[in-house]
Amino acid sequence: MKIALLGKGKTGSKVMESKVHQVIAFDSKNKPTFEKLETFDVIISFLPGEAFKSYIPLLVELKLPVVTGSTGFDWPTNLDKTLKEKNISWIYASNFSLGVAIVKQMLNKLAAAKYFFQTHETSIHEVHHTQKKDAPSGTALSMEEWMNEKCSITSERTGDVIGFHELTFNAGTEKIRLSHEALDRKLFADGAIWAAEYLVKNKQPGLNSFQDILERTL
Ligand SMILES: NC(=O)c1ccc[n+]([C@@H]2O[C@H](COP(=O)([O-])OP(=O)(O)OC[C@H]3O[C@@H](n4cnc5c(N)ncnc54)[C@H](OP(=O)(O)O)[C@@H]3O)[C@@H](O)[C@H]2O)c1
Repeated sequence: MKIALLGKGKTGSKVMESKVHQVIAFDSKNKPTFEKLETFDVIISFLPGEAFKSYIPLLVELKLPVVTGSTGFDWPTNLDKTLKEKNISWIYASNFSLGVAIVKQMLNKLAAAKYFFQTHETSIHEVHHTQKKDAPSGTALSMEEWMNEKCSITSERTGDVIGFHELTFNAGTEKIRLSHEALDRKLFADGAIWAAEYLVKNKQPGLNSFQDILERTL
């Protein structure tokens, strides 16, 4: 598979370690253009969110499958509809970890069961490295969405923490705590490459969530 990698920073550089696929990287000094990208099988983005957003029109024009892990931006409205109309397949994730996909399933279960408790409060604490541009993290916002309710989210930036998330469900008389810690950025690269392989083999028009695709496949 010939992969065009947008962003070869802390996370993208792990995609470049692939021994199975040919990976060519683009960054601020070698910016992606239609002519440079058109011969690839698939695009993977680990660009900062606003940079990725600025390339969305180019990526739609290319019509290639896109896998993106970029966070910290709002998706343009109607993108899913546009992709479906043009038969273009994209997968996005705020977190490409298999462990977080399992956390999503646990939170879906907790969200369905929360009405058994007379009262409850849900909080999320996330910790990342000091260079992370967005706060709260995309994963914390996804966890809030999976709980289907407003959560109190706190963010901490320290050292080179790759990613720590802890959700606390406090029902007053008892507490449920669920935490996930990323130990190596390679896990995000592996998840994104898995998604890229999936899209090259299976057409899936529209803007698909990695967790939904994984749930259908597991
Ligand atoms: N979904 C997941 O599983 C997951 C996991 C980890 C991180 N992320 C997200 O991935 C994104 C990148 O994180 P990171 O920590 O790897 O960032 P990073 O280390 O800062 O790397 C960013 C890369 O993007 C390039 N870039 C920035 N602006 C650009 C532009 N306008 N055109 C072309 N290239 C540009 C940079 O190139 P230059 O150095 O040349 O500017 C650099 O190679 C963030 O949004 C982060 O939240 C997602």
